[in-house]
Amino acid sequence: MRRAKISVIGAGNVGATTAHWCASNELGDIVLLDIPAAEDMPKGKALDLMQSSPIMGFDSSIQGTTDYADTANSDVVVITAGIARKPGMSRDDLLSTNAKIVSSVAEQVAATSPDSVIIVVSNPLDAMVQQVQKVCGFPHRRVIGQAGVLDTARYRTFLAMELGVSVEDVSALLMGGHGDTMVPMPSCTSIGGVPVTRLLSKERLEEIVDRARKGGAEIVGLLKTGSAYYAPAAATAQMVEAIVKDKRRMIPCAAYCDSEYGVGGYYVGVPVVLGGNGVEKVVELELEPQEKADFKNSVDAVQELVATMDQLMASS
Ligand code: NAI
Ligand code: 2OP
Repeated sequence: MRRAKISVIGAGNVGATTAHWCASNELGDIVLLDIPAAEDMPKGKALDLMQSSPIMGFDSSIQGTTDYADTANSDVVVITAGIARKPGMSRDDLLSTNAKIVSSVAEQVAATSPDSVIIVVSNPLDAMVQQVQKVCGFPHRRVIGQAGVLDTARYRTFLAMELGVSVEDVSALLMGGHGDTMVPMPSCTSIGGVPVTRLLSKERLEEIVDRARKGGAEIVGLLKTGSAYYAPAAATAQMVEAIVKDKRRMIPCAAYCDSEYGVGGYYVGVPVVLGGNGVEKVVELELEPQEKADFKNSVDAVQELVATMDQLMASS
């Protein structure tokens, strides 16, 4: 039986760590690609990872390359190419540079892996995923952004720390863009089946939500030389798994919404059913009035970001 082929574009922190999680979970054979200027770096990381396989006990192969021919006919392509946030930079500061990078990557992926499902990770996420779909022209369901799994994982982590319970018992959802306007959903947050509002005061919950919202910046402030990558890569690997195993996971992803939630043709974080074809379904929930207002605010921010990106791309 043919193993899934997973290509990871960008062999930096998030890319190499995604390859690591995917290999150690035997999700498929992995190709790790970076730019020619990176020279042998992707080969070095791939070989290093391969040499961990006898110890970790996985049979996935990992190949490093700078040549898209090696990624041909991938089932899943993860795009992490780009520059990462440094202290003092917002995700939006990355807009112009990364839009050009992901556009060139999308062209190459469309030419070499036309049937793949693409997971975009590069920031600013909601604009980058829109740009990748525009350039590659794949059906919207086969181009998806990773943000919600990570943001929700941060929220779940902080709730588990606060309540002194296992993270496994914390089930939660965040919607909206991958930025400061992201929308936590206390109405969809439960601990061992108990609504979170029965365990925490409104004020304390708001503080935890705020920390999750700023979770990326908190890590940037601590690392000082780049942004988070262990949790982002684990989140991405979970999406890869849902696709290659056709698991139909119900998880939050940046998915294309037109009539859905009245978004009008933008990628934004919503709960989806993720399976072998990519987004099998956008799950539409009846939002509470405050959630609805917050979600609209977040969609407005994504629309502004995309408009700025389009202007920058048109003038360059
Ligand atoms: P990094 O700097 O460690 O790695 C980026 C890699 O991309 C570098 O190796 C670079 O050579 C490569 N690259 C640049 N241009 C390329 C091209 N045209 N083709 C192929 N590779 C290219 O950065 P890191 O930490 O891995 O972050 C990658 C991106 O992911 C950043 O934009 C970051 O902001 C974003 N990110 C997104 C998250 C999310 O939840 N959506 C979470 C964490 C990071
Ligand atoms: C994060 O949330 C930087 O988007 C990245 O960690």
